[in-house]
Amino acid sequence: MSEAAREILARDENYLLPVYARYPVVMERGEGCTLFDIDGNQYLDMMGGLGVNALGHTHPRMLAAMAEQAAKIVHLSPQFSNRWASELAARLCRLSGMSGAFFSTGGSEAVEGALKLARTAGRQRGGNRKHGIVALKGSYHGRTFGSMSVTGQEKYSVDFGPGLPGVHFVQRNDLSGLRAAVTDQTCAILLEPVLGEGGVHFLSAEFLSEARRLADQAGALLIFDEIQSGLGRTGEWFAYSRHGVQPDVLILGKPLGGGIPLSALLVDDELFHSFGMAKHGSTLGGTPLGCRLGVEFLDVMEEENILERVRAVGARLGERLEQLAAEYDEVVQVRGAGLMWGVELTVPARPLAEEGLRRGVMFNVVQGNVLRFLPPLILNEAQVDQAMEVLGAVFAEAFTSRRANQAQVANVA
Ligand SMILES: Cc1ncc(COP(=O)(O)O)c(C=O)c1O
Repeated sequence: MSEAAREILARDENYLLPVYARYPVVMERGEGCTLFDIDGNQYLDMMGGLGVNALGHTHPRMLAAMAEQAAKIVHLSPQFSNRWASELAARLCRLSGMSGAFFSTGGSEAVEGALKLARTAGRQRGGNRKHGIVALKGSYHGRTFGSMSVTGQEKYSVDFGPGLPGVHFVQRNDLSGLRAAVTDQTCAILLEPVLGEGGVHFLSAEFLSEARRLADQAGALLIFDEIQSGLGRTGEWFAYSRHGVQPDVLILGKPLGGGIPLSALLVDDELFHSFGMAKHGSTLGGTPLGCRLGVEFLDVMEEENILERVRAVGARLGERLEQLAAEYDEVVQVRGAGLMWGVELTVPARPLAEEGLRRGVMFNVVQGNVLRFLPPLILNEAQVDQAMEVLGAVFAEAFTSRRANQAQVANVA
């Protein structure tokens, strides 16, 4: 590593709060699915900026749209109109079957909006006591106060409690647990159709349908958080599309603004006026630049048939992961669809990701023992093969040596 890289890493340590387990690399630029560090080393990006870089890095059309829009107007007070916010809203509504949008910056902020909407709609429908929120154990909705409170992983909230009152957690795909938790005091059922940060777990069609039925029965909102699984990630526009269960509220984020912070809260017709004037807002949400990029992102997705490509390339990635899984006892399960995959291991995954990085591929770890794949949606077959060759070598080294160690221990014993 160069002296310059070392200096930057040391400065990071001195000045950036240590809330991320950063990797010892300083990135400089990206091109397609490849990143380059400041020493000129290149890396295949299998984590896609945690799902943000759906069109990879420096996509020519995104760059052109960015330059053109930045030369006109970047930010505008949300009290003024520009053509891009409502164009993006209309496009998203058409794709999702929703009726209106509110734009904010990151995913957590959109979750906050959904929670506020659920509370106000609950109050309108059933008075002050209708404020309960049913969410899932193992879910992830963000780290702001409300989103942390509905995240079903104690490690995120244990130091900051108490969180929001009235939140009930249910095991994923547990129909009877869900039935028991939803009451007439429930104002919302909040679900990730695919629990991403929780380790890439898919909710069953039955569970989603039952959530829809219970929400209707209780007069509660069914909210789908598709910040990670939405906008093409699973090979469909939305993960819920494959099950035909329509939510009342849909939350999107990550790739929407092409790397410019942008998230969307989409609502059905009935909720269009629920917030009330000035009860919700976001100074930096829905900027002309972000929304312009959102429109370009959707154009590229449609014109270049990216969904089809995600299904084909994703199927290959899934097959290759299954082949690896068959070779090693350390792989517990491979789960995924499109270009969203998780490989659950019996051992910590971080050392494997570190070794992958040394070999030129960026892998991502969640839950300590799950390798998660969220590569750019423009990944091609050759890149899948390249990533899998590296992963195969990493597994061979780590797991063989682990077996050898076990054999050695057995011999000594
Ligand atoms: C499903 C889901 N919801 C919410 C969030 C929070 O989004 P952000 O980090 O943009 O605030 C994430 C981020 O990973 C997510 O995956």
